[in-house]
Amino acid sequence: LSNESIAFIGGGNMARALISGLVNAGRDPLTVVVSDPLPEQRDLLDEIGVRTTADNDEAISGANVVVLAVKPQVLGDVLKTARVNPDQLLVSIAAGVPSSAIVGWTHPDQPVVRAMPNTPALLGAGITALYANDTVSDTGRQTAQDILATAGRTLWVDEEDKLDAVTAVSGSGPAYYFYLMEAMIEAGIGQGLDAETATVLTLETAYGAALMARERTHPPQTLRANVSSPGGTTAAALSVLDAEGARDIIGRALDRARARSQELAEEFGQS
Ligand SMILES: NC(=O)c1ccc[n+]([C@@H]2O[C@H](COP(=O)([O-])OP(=O)(O)OC[C@H]3O[C@@H](n4cnc5c(N)ncnc54)[C@H](OP(=O)(O)O)[C@@H]3O)[C@@H](O)[C@H]2O)c1
Repeated sequence: LSNESIAFIGGGNMARALISGLVNAGRDPLTVVVSDPLPEQRDLLDEIGVRTTADNDEAISGANVVVLAVKPQVLGDVLKTARVNPDQLLVSIAAGVPSSAIVGWTHPDQPVVRAMPNTPALLGAGITALYANDTVSDTGRQTAQDILATAGRTLWVDEEDKLDAVTAVSGSGPAYYFYLMEAMIEAGIGQGLDAETATVLTLETAYGAALMARERTHPPQTLRANVSSPGGTTAAALSVLDAEGARDIIGRALDRARARSQELAEEFGQS
């Protein structure tokens, strides 16, 4: 990866997180060039020391890898006018845009990796699922993985359709946990705790539970059983969740997220 020259099209939040990660990992900032129309975005990137430009073709020219980090709605327009070379590896983080659409806007043999990160990537604590089309070489896969690994853990899916399920689980996932946190804070306040106390108790509990589950010593099911002694307070709470069908509700919420991801893929793929 160290010898590759990388262009980013779009220098927003996600691009900045990846670029900071690359530079912090020791990459020479001068091997990275970013194009973004907004001077304020370019100023923030200039502070990291990478090269910036308002001209997409200037960024793309001479790059081995082009990271597509614009919003999905504008990706089609960007690629239809950009001078992409068929040898360049395209790594798209645009949610929902199919690799076939990206190939259609560029060249029939264009190597394309699609990446689905999530917002904790902004803190280096993301999880990114990657998918490579048939034209991507092993080296290309490694390059894409190395770029996204600066934002947290990575894994590969073997079928592109699975990215819709990935979107439902991890892409949209942080919001489900935020929702649960909101509900727990409100309940704590309802039981007489002050807002600060309810917030600290909730957030530290979420953090601790995530750390325990992430150890992988036991699956979540066992961890839950271990803290739910019969007749106790936790069992009492969980009996309400079960009786009200919370598990089924979560399943249906994720089904709806996946269906929405499929709808968006159809919409963006045609633009
Ligand atoms: N943020 C996340 O957690 C997250 C998670 C998963 C996937 N993603 C995906 O990552 C992509 C980027 O998200 P983001 O949060 O980084 O968005 P963002 O902050 O809005 O960044 C996009 C940047 O691209 C610029 N841009 C727009 N049109 C351009 C053009 N024609 N040429 C070059 N640059 C252009 C935008 O400038 P303007 O402001 O002028 O439009 C903006 O600075 C999206 O496709 C999103 O779906 C993000």
